[in-house]
Amino acid sequence: MIEIKNIVKSYGTRKNKFQILKNISAEISGGDFVVILGASGSGKSTFLNVISGLERPDSGTVHYGSTDITALSDAELTAFRRETVGFIFQQYYLLPNMTVEKNVRMGADLSGNRDYLSIIDAVGLHDRRKKYPSELSGGEQQRVAVARALAKRPKVLFLDEPTGALDEETGRQVLDYICRLQKEYGFTIVMVTHNANIAEMANTVFKMNSGRIENIYRNETQKNAYEIGW
Ligand SMILES: Nc1ncnc2c1ncn2[C@@H]1O[C@H](COP(=O)(O)OP(=O)(O)OP(=O)(O)O)[C@@H](O)[C@H]1O
Ligand SMILES: [Mg+2]
Repeated sequence: MIEIKNIVKSYGTRKNKFQILKNISAEISGGDFVVILGASGSGKSTFLNVISGLERPDSGTVHYGSTDITALSDAELTAFRRETVGFIFQQYYLLPNMTVEKNVRMGADLSGNRDYLSIIDAVGLHDRRKKYPSELSGGEQQRVAVARALAKRPKVLFLDEPTGALDEETGRQVLDYICRLQKEYGFTIVMVTHNANIAEMANTVFKMNSGRIENIYRNETQKNAYEIGW
Protein backbone atom coordinates (compact mmCIF):
# COMPACT_ATOMS: atom_id res chain seq x y z
CA MET A 1 0.00 0.00 0.00
CA ILE A 2 1.09 3.56 -0.76
CA GLU A 3 0.15 6.15 1.85
CA ILE A 4 0.39 9.76 0.71
CA LYS A 5 0.20 12.42 3.42
CA ASN A 6 0.03 16.21 3.17
CA ILE A 7 2.06 16.59 -0.01
CA VAL A 8 2.98 20.15 -0.90
CA LYS A 9 5.08 20.98 -3.95
CA SER A 10 5.97 24.37 -5.41
CA TYR A 11 8.01 25.57 -8.33
CA GLY A 12 9.84 28.86 -8.68
CA THR A 13 11.96 31.09 -6.50
CA ARG A 14 10.92 32.64 -3.23
CA LYS A 15 9.47 35.75 -4.88
CA ASN A 16 7.67 33.91 -7.64
CA LYS A 17 6.77 30.75 -5.81
CA PHE A 18 3.80 28.89 -7.25
CA GLN A 19 2.19 26.07 -5.34
CA ILE A 20 1.42 23.16 -7.68
CA LEU A 21 0.34 20.51 -5.16
CA LYS A 22 -1.70 21.88 -2.29
CA ASN A 23 -1.62 19.48 0.62
CA ILE A 24 -2.67 16.19 -1.00
CA SER A 25 -3.39 13.05 1.00
CA ALA A 26 -4.55 9.71 -0.44
CA GLU A 27 -4.05 5.96 -0.23
CA ILE A 28 -3.41 3.43 -2.96
CA SER A 29 -4.03 -0.25 -2.23
CA GLY A 30 -1.77 -2.99 -3.56
CA GLY A 31 -3.04 -4.37 -6.88
CA ASP A 32 -5.36 -1.42 -7.48
CA PHE A 33 -5.81 0.28 -10.85
CA VAL A 34 -5.81 4.01 -10.12
CA VAL A 35 -6.39 6.68 -12.74
CA ILE A 36 -5.42 10.27 -11.96
CA LEU A 37 -7.80 12.37 -14.03
CA GLY A 38 -7.79 16.12 -14.50
CA ALA A 39 -7.46 19.05 -16.86
CA SER A 40 -4.15 20.18 -18.30
CA GLY A 41 -2.13 22.02 -15.66
CA SER A 42 -4.05 20.55 -12.71
CA GLY A 43 -0.86 18.95 -11.36
CA LYS A 44 -1.28 15.32 -12.44
CA SER A 45 2.26 14.75 -13.69
CA THR A 46 3.77 16.59 -10.74
CA PHE A 47 1.74 14.40 -8.37
CA LEU A 48 2.76 11.22 -10.21
CA ASN A 49 6.42 12.26 -10.12
CA VAL A 50 6.31 12.92 -6.39
CA ILE A 51 4.56 9.67 -5.41
CA SER A 52 6.84 7.59 -7.64
CA GLY A 53 10.06 9.08 -6.27
CA LEU A 54 11.08 10.97 -9.42
CA GLU A 55 10.75 14.31 -7.62
CA ARG A 56 10.84 15.37 -4.01
CA PRO A 57 7.97 17.28 -2.38
CA ASP A 58 8.52 20.44 -0.33
CA SER A 59 6.79 18.68 2.55
CA GLY A 60 4.65 15.66 3.27
CA THR A 61 5.39 11.91 3.23
CA VAL A 62 4.94 9.00 0.81
CA HIS A 63 5.09 5.60 2.50
CA TYR A 64 5.50 2.32 0.65
CA GLY A 65 4.69 -0.05 3.48
CA SER A 66 6.89 1.17 6.31
CA THR A 67 9.36 3.03 4.03
CA ASP A 68 8.94 6.78 3.69
CA ILE A 69 10.54 7.47 0.30
CA THR A 70 10.73 11.21 0.99
CA ALA A 71 13.21 10.43 3.78
CA LEU A 72 15.57 8.38 1.58
CA SER A 73 18.98 9.60 0.43
CA ASP A 74 19.46 10.17 -3.30
CA ALA A 75 21.23 6.81 -3.63
CA GLU A 76 18.50 5.01 -1.69
CA LEU A 77 15.82 6.70 -3.77
CA THR A 78 17.53 5.59 -6.99
CA ALA A 79 17.66 2.03 -5.65
CA PHE A 80 13.99 2.26 -4.69
CA ARG A 81 13.02 3.34 -8.24
CA ARG A 82 15.13 0.60 -9.76
CA GLU A 83 13.72 -2.15 -7.60
CA THR A 84 10.15 -1.22 -6.86
CA VAL A 85 8.57 0.91 -9.59
CA GLY A 86 8.29 1.01 -13.39
CA PHE A 87 7.55 3.97 -15.65
CA ILE A 88 5.84 4.51 -18.99
CA PHE A 89 5.53 7.97 -20.53
CA GLN A 90 3.93 9.46 -23.61
CA GLN A 91 7.36 9.39 -25.26
CA TYR A 92 8.81 5.90 -25.40
CA TYR A 93 12.43 6.75 -24.48
CA LEU A 94 13.80 3.61 -26.12
CA LEU A 95 17.49 3.40 -26.90
CA PRO A 96 17.67 3.85 -30.68
CA ASN A 97 20.84 1.84 -31.25
CA MET A 98 19.59 -1.24 -29.39
CA THR A 99 17.21 -3.91 -30.62
CA VAL A 100 13.85 -4.60 -28.97
CA GLU A 101 15.43 -7.51 -27.16
CA LYS A 102 18.31 -5.44 -25.77
CA ASN A 103 16.02 -2.57 -24.74
CA VAL A 104 13.87 -4.98 -22.73
CA ARG A 105 16.87 -6.85 -21.36
CA MET A 106 18.20 -3.59 -19.92
CA GLY A 107 15.03 -3.32 -17.84
CA ALA A 108 15.35 -6.94 -16.75
CA ASP A 109 19.04 -6.65 -15.90
CA LEU A 110 18.24 -3.93 -13.39
CA SER A 111 16.59 -6.54 -11.21
CA GLY A 112 18.53 -9.62 -12.25
CA ASN A 113 15.48 -11.05 -14.01
CA ARG A 114 16.69 -13.42 -16.74
CA ASP A 115 13.21 -14.12 -18.01
CA TYR A 116 12.95 -11.08 -20.27
CA LEU A 117 12.01 -13.05 -23.39
CA SER A 118 8.66 -14.10 -21.94
CA ILE A 119 7.64 -10.47 -21.42
CA ILE A 120 8.52 -9.70 -25.05
CA ASP A 121 6.22 -12.55 -26.06
CA ALA A 122 3.56 -11.28 -23.64
CA VAL A 123 3.32 -7.92 -25.44
CA GLY A 124 3.12 -9.69 -28.81
CA LEU A 125 6.56 -8.67 -30.06
CA HIS A 126 8.24 -12.06 -30.46
CA ASP A 127 8.63 -11.52 -34.23
CA ARG A 128 9.97 -8.00 -33.75
CA ARG A 129 12.61 -8.76 -31.14
CA LYS A 130 15.61 -8.28 -33.47
CA LYS A 131 14.30 -4.96 -34.85
CA TYR A 132 15.43 -1.47 -33.89
CA PRO A 133 12.95 1.11 -32.50
CA SER A 134 12.98 3.14 -35.75
CA GLU A 135 11.70 0.06 -37.59
CA LEU A 136 8.60 -0.17 -35.39
CA SER A 137 5.23 1.61 -35.32
CA GLY A 138 4.35 3.90 -32.42
CA GLY A 139 2.15 1.25 -30.83
CA GLU A 140 4.89 -1.35 -31.12
CA GLN A 141 7.43 1.03 -29.60
CA GLN A 142 5.14 1.72 -26.67
CA ARG A 143 4.70 -2.05 -26.18
CA VAL A 144 8.51 -2.32 -26.01
CA ALA A 145 8.43 0.37 -23.32
CA VAL A 146 5.75 -1.65 -21.46
CA ALA A 147 7.88 -4.79 -21.69
CA ARG A 148 10.98 -2.92 -20.53
CA ALA A 149 9.14 -1.43 -17.54
CA LEU A 150 7.64 -4.81 -16.56
CA ALA A 151 10.74 -6.92 -17.20
CA LYS A 152 12.03 -6.03 -13.76
CA ARG A 153 8.71 -7.06 -12.20
CA PRO A 154 7.90 -3.75 -10.46
CA LYS A 155 5.38 -3.63 -7.65
CA VAL A 156 3.88 -0.44 -9.06
CA LEU A 157 3.65 0.67 -12.68
CA PHE A 158 3.36 4.45 -13.17
CA LEU A 159 2.08 5.70 -16.51
CA ASP A 160 1.79 9.32 -17.68
CA GLU A 161 -0.48 9.67 -20.73
CA PRO A 162 0.80 6.37 -22.19
CA THR A 163 -1.48 6.63 -25.23
CA GLY A 164 -0.96 10.36 -25.81
CA ALA A 165 1.09 9.82 -28.97
CA LEU A 166 -0.93 6.90 -30.32
CA ASP A 167 -3.94 6.66 -32.61
CA GLU A 168 -7.15 5.09 -31.33
CA GLU A 169 -6.54 1.54 -32.48
CA THR A 170 -2.96 1.24 -31.20
CA GLY A 171 -3.87 3.15 -28.04
CA ARG A 172 -6.58 0.63 -27.20
CA GLN A 173 -4.21 -2.21 -27.93
CA VAL A 174 -1.51 -0.86 -25.60
CA LEU A 175 -4.04 -0.34 -22.78
CA ASP A 176 -5.38 -3.84 -23.34
CA TYR A 177 -1.91 -5.35 -22.99
CA ILE A 178 -1.29 -3.39 -19.80
CA CYS A 179 -4.56 -4.58 -18.23
CA ARG A 180 -3.99 -8.19 -19.19
CA LEU A 181 -0.46 -8.10 -17.81
CA GLN A 182 -1.75 -6.63 -14.55
CA LYS A 183 -4.11 -9.60 -14.18
CA GLU A 184 -1.21 -11.97 -14.81
CA TYR A 185 1.45 -10.31 -12.61
CA GLY A 186 -0.68 -8.43 -10.07
CA PHE A 187 1.22 -5.13 -9.98
CA THR A 188 -0.44 -1.85 -9.00
CA ILE A 189 -1.26 0.64 -11.78
CA VAL A 190 -1.22 4.42 -11.32
CA MET A 191 -2.04 6.11 -14.61
CA VAL A 192 -2.32 9.80 -15.44
CA THR A 193 -4.72 10.87 -18.18
CA HIS A 194 -6.88 13.84 -19.13
CA ASN A 195 -9.21 11.44 -21.01
CA ALA A 196 -12.34 10.70 -18.93
CA ASN A 197 -13.07 7.63 -21.09
CA ILE A 198 -9.87 5.95 -19.93
CA ALA A 199 -10.87 6.57 -16.31
CA GLU A 200 -13.70 4.06 -16.84
CA MET A 201 -11.07 1.31 -16.97
CA ALA A 202 -9.90 2.10 -13.43
CA ASN A 203 -10.91 0.66 -10.10
CA THR A 204 -10.29 3.95 -8.37
CA VAL A 205 -10.26 7.46 -9.84
CA PHE A 206 -8.50 10.46 -8.29
CA LYS A 207 -10.06 13.55 -9.83
CA MET A 208 -7.57 16.43 -9.69
CA ASN A 209 -8.32 20.12 -9.94
CA SER A 210 -5.90 23.02 -9.36
CA GLY A 211 -3.37 21.06 -7.33
CA ARG A 212 -5.84 19.17 -5.18
CA ILE A 213 -7.68 15.86 -5.35
CA GLU A 214 -11.24 17.14 -5.43
CA ASN A 215 -12.87 13.71 -5.57
CA ILE A 216 -11.96 10.03 -5.15
CA TYR A 217 -14.41 7.47 -6.47
CA ARG A 218 -14.53 3.82 -7.35
CA ASN A 219 -16.06 2.41 -10.52
CA GLU A 220 -18.59 -0.34 -9.85
CA THR A 221 -17.45 -2.15 -12.96
CA GLN A 222 -14.25 -1.69 -14.90
CA LYS A 223 -14.54 -1.39 -18.67
CA ASN A 224 -11.92 -2.93 -20.90
CA ALA A 225 -9.91 -1.07 -23.51
CA TYR A 226 -12.36 -1.93 -26.29
CA GLU A 227 -15.51 -0.95 -24.34
CA ILE A 228 -14.61 2.65 -23.56
CA GLY A 229 -15.19 5.67 -25.81
CA TRP A 230 -12.13 7.36 -27.25
N1 LIG B 1 9.55 22.10 -13.65
C1 LIG B 1 8.58 23.01 -13.52
N2 LIG B 1 8.88 24.30 -13.25
C2 LIG B 1 7.92 25.22 -13.10
N3 LIG B 1 6.60 24.97 -13.21
C3 LIG B 1 6.23 23.72 -13.49
C4 LIG B 1 7.19 22.67 -13.66
N4 LIG B 1 6.52 21.52 -13.94
C5 LIG B 1 5.22 21.85 -13.93
N5 LIG B 1 5.03 23.17 -13.68
C6 LIG B 1 3.72 23.84 -13.58
O1 LIG B 1 2.92 23.11 -12.67
C7 LIG B 1 1.56 23.06 -13.10
C8 LIG B 1 1.10 21.63 -13.13
O2 LIG B 1 1.87 20.93 -14.09
P1 LIG B 1 1.69 19.38 -14.39
O3 LIG B 1 2.66 19.05 -15.46
O4 LIG B 1 1.75 18.62 -13.12
O5 LIG B 1 0.19 19.36 -14.94
P2 LIG B 1 -0.62 18.20 -15.67
O6 LIG B 1 -1.91 18.05 -14.97
O7 LIG B 1 0.23 17.00 -15.79
O8 LIG B 1 -0.89 18.84 -17.12
P3 LIG B 1 -0.92 18.13 -18.57
O9 LIG B 1 -2.22 17.40 -18.67
O10 LIG B 1 -0.86 19.30 -19.51
O11 LIG B 1 0.28 17.24 -18.68
C9 LIG B 1 1.52 23.77 -14.44
O12 LIG B 1 1.02 25.07 -14.23
C10 LIG B 1 2.96 23.80 -14.88
O13 LIG B 1 3.21 24.93 -15.66
MG1 LIG C 1 1.11 16.01 -17.42
